[in-house]
Amino acid sequence: MELLGGLSVETFLSEYWQKKPLLVRQAVPGFAGLVSAEGMNELACRDDAISRLVKVEQGAWQLEQGPFDGRRLKKLQKGEWSLLVSNLNHFMPEAAELFYRFSFIPYARLDDLMVSYAPQGGTVGPHFDSYDVFLLQAGGRKRWQVSAQQDNTLIEGAPLKILQHFTPEQEWVLEPGDMLYLPPRYAHNGVALEPGMTYSIGFRAPSAQELATQFLAFLQDQLELDGMYADPDLQTQKQPALLGEAMVDRVEAMLSGIRWGRGDIKAFLGHYLSEPKAHVLFDPPEDELSVKQFAKRVASDGVVLDLKTQMLHCDDQFFCNGESVTATDDEAALLAELANARHLTARMVQGPLLDLMYEWFEYGYLHLGTDPLPAG
Ligand code: SIN
Ligand code: CO
Repeated sequence: MELLGGLSVETFLSEYWQKKPLLVRQAVPGFAGLVSAEGMNELACRDDAISRLVKVEQGAWQLEQGPFDGRRLKKLQKGEWSLLVSNLNHFMPEAAELFYRFSFIPYARLDDLMVSYAPQGGTVGPHFDSYDVFLLQAGGRKRWQVSAQQDNTLIEGAPLKILQHFTPEQEWVLEPGDMLYLPPRYAHNGVALEPGMTYSIGFRAPSAQELATQFLAFLQDQLELDGMYADPDLQTQKQPALLGEAMVDRVEAMLSGIRWGRGDIKAFLGHYLSEPKAHVLFDPPEDELSVKQFAKRVASDGVVLDLKTQMLHCDDQFFCNGESVTATDDEAALLAELANARHLTARMVQGPLLDLMYEWFEYGYLHLGTDPLPAG
């Protein structure tokens, strides 16, 4: 596979993924990037994009969150700073195309394509990420130093996580098109040798605590327990303030009605992993279409998922942006194609599936034709 420098996905997964770094020279030959520095500035001014500016001033780390004022960004010139914009794949079809070239890792694990711009000397400092990352270089060269060090002590009081003691073990200068894979918690430090950009393909790995919290919230929404506390056999007790054993027994029996199975875990994962992040909003279509008109257009133009849509499936359940539907066998084949390929070529769609797609069209989850951006 070109992206992995000729390494097979199987070898990458068994030998490198979550295990050790991999440097791929010319993963994307001569990669020139997808967005100019001005384009990045424009994105960093949008309130639907997550952007950050990292600076070092007189040895002190500073972090500012976007959206930024364009004039201010233009004034930034020399110096140690980096501008970062997350989810480029939500804004540019070309970025989504690059992002989904990494779909040898399941969509449920793919998180975001972030881009950073740094002038010469720009850096976000030595740090580790909790997630796997592919760092693809565009534009000027960048020197990456990495370390398997166990000392994760951070600089106290810094507004972002910077390692206090970074002991580089290996270093490479990445040219445009070169890519470095790092497993989670692998210390790294990138310094721009020339003005340039780094495209980071990041992954999602929720903590056990986060999964448990979210699962319990999901379960709470599903739960329907009958009955009320009752004690027709109440006995006298000397201490009225005492929570009696009989009461604890009764409540224990009532709560034992809280149960979950594999089906609940599947449904939870589908909802949780397809739920849009808080800043993600969808735009309804500009042109109003009746269901009939929509059906005709689907049959001639097909449909494509919006860049921000996350669609996953499991058994006969299909999850789209935090919502779910149960599909019949016929519907499942079409929906699975839509979920995996992220588009459906011209197709007659009828019945409940047509209603569902029309609903998703009206929400802005999908569009007619092949352009995964809302019209206008
Ligand atoms: C960068 O693009 O310079 C930082 C990306 C990272 O370290 O994860
Ligand atoms: Co990092």
